[in-house]
Amino acid sequence: MVNEAIGNLRLPEAPAGLYDPITYTLDGGGKRLRPVLTLAACDAFGKAPSTAIHQAVAIEMFHNFTLLHDDVMDNADVRRGRPTVHRKWNSETAILSGDAMLTTSTMLLAIKCGEKLGQALELFNGTAMNIYEGQQLDMDFEARQDVTVEEYMEMIRLKTSVLLGCACGMGALMADAPFETQVKFFEYGVNLGLAFQLQDDYLDTYGNPETFGKAIGGDILNDKKTWLLIMAMNEDTTGEVRSLLGETTDPQGKIAAVRSVYDRLGLPERIHELISAYIDSAIKCLDYLELQPEARVFFMDLALASATRDK
Ligand code: IPE
Ligand code: IPE
Ligand code: MG
Ligand code: MG
Ligand code: MG
Repeated sequence: MVNEAIGNLRLPEAPAGLYDPITYTLDGGGKRLRPVLTLAACDAFGKAPSTAIHQAVAIEMFHNFTLLHDDVMDNADVRRGRPTVHRKWNSETAILSGDAMLTTSTMLLAIKCGEKLGQALELFNGTAMNIYEGQQLDMDFEARQDVTVEEYMEMIRLKTSVLLGCACGMGALMADAPFETQVKFFEYGVNLGLAFQLQDDYLDTYGNPETFGKAIGGDILNDKKTWLLIMAMNEDTTGEVRSLLGETTDPQGKIAAVRSVYDRLGLPERIHELISAYIDSAIKCLDYLELQPEARVFFMDLALASATRDK
């Protein structure tokens, strides 16, 4: 349904410099996790998924906009197995096509929203502001060496998790679920999102580039303060990891050296214990919601799958 709705979007063709990168991005695949959450949430609370299709596509459009700008900020060359927009074109293009996607997303959000428009905009725009805050913290942390695990968790709650929460809450809103239900389902999405970003950080170092679709080691090269790097900075008594911060002369050597410290400290196993804890918290939210068995299984399996995903 999501891909069909995206395929039916009638974007203008000219100027091509603005619209071609948008089509390129939307045609590039992606897991469509957020819009699926919106449609499934709408379904779970008793309305046809089609009720929330425009809002689901709005959220996916917004997500794709953040990726265009994120890839400029992270200096990333590859996404979804293809050159990023700022590499295939240039950063001016990534900025402006991204802006157009952001505005398109708010136009889509309003379609057939009816009297719920005010609430939908409040949820959507509040989430967007949180994402910008999280992205700024993510950048600020690159230059800092005293970032705590608590600060990291707050940063990923903002940059990633609230959008999954918003996707869930939006589906519940479109289904006219009670406000407390929307809030609890938002909380499910946030816990899922924390697990999701931790696994993204794990895959950035340990993933297979073919499957993951992104270059491996980008976080290490940018000195991103991921959970892995923060733990290594705290626990690596040899000082090796700290001495590699800011190092740019031998990128592949840096990635291998940092990864071997992670391995020595058992961090790949330990990050998965943390991921499991957030998945458990997500599942606890489902218990509170008293969903129909089919819906409960769907959202539970989705959460469990995020711990072992490889793309
Ligand atoms: C990438 O999100 C950005 C993060 C929040 C980690 P996804 O991993 O959902 O990207 P696509 O849409 O499937 O490509
Ligand atoms: C993504 O974080 C968060 C947003 C895009 C808002 P990352 O920078 O880790 O995402 P990827 O790994 O590039 O997809
Ligand atoms: Mg990035
Ligand atoms: Mg980033
Ligand atoms: Mg990442």
